[in-house]
Amino acid sequence: MDLSITVNGMKFPNPFLLGSGPPGTNARVLAKSYDAGWGGAVAKTVSLESAKVVNVVPRYGKLRSRATGEVIGFENIELISDRPIDVWLDEFRQIKKEYPNNILIASIMEEYEKSRWQELTRMIQETGVDGFELNFSCPHGMTERKMGSEMGEHPDLTEEVTSWVTEVAKIPVWAKMTPNITNIREPALAAIRGGAVGISAINTILSVIGVDLETLRPMPTVEGHCVPGGYSAQAVRPIALRMVSQLALGVPEEISISGIGGIENSHDALEFFLLGSATVQICTGVMLQGVKMIDELKAGVEKFMVDKGFSSVQEIVGKSLPYFSTHMDLVQKMKAAKRSKAGEASRDNEWAQKDITEKTAELTSN
Ligand SMILES: Cc1cc2nc3c(=O)[nH]c(=O)nc-3n(C[C@H](O)[C@H](O)[C@H](O)COP(=O)(O)O)c2cc1C
Repeated sequence: MDLSITVNGMKFPNPFLLGSGPPGTNARVLAKSYDAGWGGAVAKTVSLESAKVVNVVPRYGKLRSRATGEVIGFENIELISDRPIDVWLDEFRQIKKEYPNNILIASIMEEYEKSRWQELTRMIQETGVDGFELNFSCPHGMTERKMGSEMGEHPDLTEEVTSWVTEVAKIPVWAKMTPNITNIREPALAAIRGGAVGISAINTILSVIGVDLETLRPMPTVEGHCVPGGYSAQAVRPIALRMVSQLALGVPEEISISGIGGIENSHDALEFFLLGSATVQICTGVMLQGVKMIDELKAGVEKFMVDKGFSSVQEIVGKSLPYFSTHMDLVQKMKAAKRSKAGEASRDNEWAQKDITEKTAELTSN
C-alpha cells in the first residue's frame, strides 16, 4: 500500500521521520534508518560552533512503570550536536546523493544574531537538504546561551528569527515548538508570520526525573549536582496530542504539522495523524526500540487504512478534529441524548457514597 504523502512540496515515501536527536546524529545512523524503511529524518540540531557544545555524563534518566518496569518517561540534559559544521555539510551532501528519495531535514539553532542564522542557512541549503527545522525549543543547556526555548518562549523573537531564515531559505522551513509555554498557538502563529510553512510539536517538557533518597541528590546527577532537563517518551504523549490538536485547529489550513512526543507504535502515530499531523517524528522510541520499529509502524498504519477504508495517509490527517467541542456543548449534547439522569447521578455530592477508585472507574471512558 502507498503510504507516501507530500508535505510543503516534499514527497515523503512514508510519513515516519526520525525526530532530531541521537537517532539522527551522523550520516551512518541516518543511512541505516533509510535502509530500514524510514521515510525521512530530522538530523540532530547543528550550529556554527560545535566547540561551544560540551555534553555531560550521565545525561539521561528513566521513569519506569511501578507494575512492569517498562520505561514510561525519559529525561535528557543532552545538548545539540557537538560535531563540527564542516563535517555535517559533507555528510548532508553525501546522504542526499545516496538517498535522493528520502527526505532529509536539517535542524538548526544559533545565537540571537541575524548574520549567524543566515550564514548557517545558506551553508546547509547548498548541500541539497530538503528542508529546515528551526529548533526554538531545546529547554535546557542551550538556554544559558539564550538559544533554543529561550527564543521559542518569546513569540516576538520566534517571528524575527524565522524571518531571518526565510529571507534566505529557498526550501521549506518548519519551526519546532516548545511545550513549556501556556498557549502553543502564540509562538506557532509568530513563526508563521515569520514565513514558516510547517510547525513541529512538541520538543521535550521541562522536568526533574527524581531524587536519590540515599544521596539526597536530584537526578540525573553529575558530580553530585543536577539541572532540570527535557521529558519525553510515552508519558508526554497526551500533552503532545493536546498541543497538536490546538495547533491543527488554530493555524491556517495550508500550514503543515509534524507531530512529536511519545510515539512508540502505529497506534500512537495514528492518533497524531487523526489530530492533524501530516508526518510524525520519533526520537525516544527509536532510542529504546531501534530503527526496526519502522516495520510495525508501517504495517499497523496499512492495516488501519484497509480496515477503515482509507486510501491515503492524507485522508486520515485531521479526521478526529471535528469532534472537539466545549464543555457546555457536551452537557447540552448529553441532555439532548436524554442522558441527563446519568449526568445528575455523577454530581460531586455522590463521591463519598462509594470507594473513590470505583467512582473514578465509573467516570472513565477507556
Ligand atoms: C536524548 C535526546 C536528545 C534530543 N536532542 C534534540 C535535538 O538536538 N534537537 C531537537 O530539536 N530535539 C531534540 N530532542 C527532542 C526530540 O526530538 C523530541 O522532540 C522529544 O524527545 C519528544 O519526542 P519523543 O517522545 O519521540 O522522544 C532530543 C530528545 C532526546 C530524548
